[in-house]
Amino acid sequence: NAVWHVTGARPNFPKAAPVVAALNERGISQGLVHTGQHYDDNMSTVFFEQLKLPRPDINLGVGSGSHAQQTATIMTGLEELFLKEQPKLVVVYGDVNSTVAAALVASKLHIPVAHVEAGLRSFDMTMPEEVNRIVTDRLSNLLLATSPDAIAHLAHEGVAADRIHLVGNPMIDTLLSFVKDSGEAPHVEGFEIPDGPFAVATLHRPANVDDPGDLNVLKDALHATADQLPVVMPVHPRGKARMTEIGLFDHDNMHAVEPLGYLEFLGLVRRSALVVTDSGGIQEETTVLGVPCLTLRPNTERPVTITHGTNQLVTAPALAGIVKETLAAGRPTTWKVPPLWDGQAGPRIAEVIDNFLAAQG
Ligand code: UD1
Repeated sequence: NAVWHVTGARPNFPKAAPVVAALNERGISQGLVHTGQHYDDNMSTVFFEQLKLPRPDINLGVGSGSHAQQTATIMTGLEELFLKEQPKLVVVYGDVNSTVAAALVASKLHIPVAHVEAGLRSFDMTMPEEVNRIVTDRLSNLLLATSPDAIAHLAHEGVAADRIHLVGNPMIDTLLSFVKDSGEAPHVEGFEIPDGPFAVATLHRPANVDDPGDLNVLKDALHATADQLPVVMPVHPRGKARMTEIGLFDHDNMHAVEPLGYLEFLGLVRRSALVVTDSGGIQEETTVLGVPCLTLRPNTERPVTITHGTNQLVTAPALAGIVKETLAAGRPTTWKVPPLWDGQAGPRIAEVIDNFLAAQG
């Protein structure tokens, strides 16, 4: 196979699906690696099925571990694979440990790397994802950017302009292709979708869920939100035990449910009055759906979701008040979608890759 894609964690899957499909259209031979960073059925298998991703050619089965363990295990597995398969290009996605591990291995074997979602910066080096983004971009030959701010960051870091391509957002390709036909309300085990307004909440960042003190402040904020409307919270495995222990779900209006499939989550967010999250991708999805997004973080690597979309950064103590204002204002009737978030990022990326392969000979 000429092109090998490396995926591993849940947010990679909706980004890879349209790229794989568009390269297929062009008849480019490709292989797909699943590192096994995420391995629960509801964090992985369900996405492959719903997004119609091909079965991975190989699953490295690395599982969880410390950052060093996880990254090193992925690297060892990929090195063996790449030596055997001799890819002409390795495509990596986003900012997870699987992304940076693949970029390191490929570049040391002198295999070119394409980074989908290049150039995003939170300028917060305490985030593991920021480290992954910077290192991956530094090692990549093709930097495929979702937004103009990303281009500016890469230019500022000295990346040659001919390596950088503004291609739009492939995750939004996936979103738009499913929004068309997800008319029926989804079935969510453990949550009856109410007729009135409800909120969707997700939390998984180390900065929010690893420290019991911070988590207590978040608990108060979420309970003050749940005093105003039902809150459904699909719970990421990270921090689940801690959140349960401190009583975060002990409120009649807080509904903890298992992690959801892509379609179920999309169906829920579309119908919600607002979303409270610390995820990166959800800031982008709510931007396109026009659903108010309150991001529980001090910064975002996705500023277009604020300048164009419906996102705002909030602190836990301010959350309940902002929820009140947001409910009073209602769902926005007009909002801007960032340039090239139009459902055609996959084909644009495939064209860039096709031209790159042709130039390599
Ligand atoms: C990873 C990404 C993060 C992304 C998130 C989306 C990195 C550094 N972080 O964080 O950027 O937003 O995925 O979900 O790559 N676990 C399970 N089952 C699974 C996967 C994880 O139980 O299928 C549990 C394990 O206890 C594991 C913990 O979740 O130790 C954290 O998993 P890990 O892959 O290390 O990072 P995430 O927090 O999922």
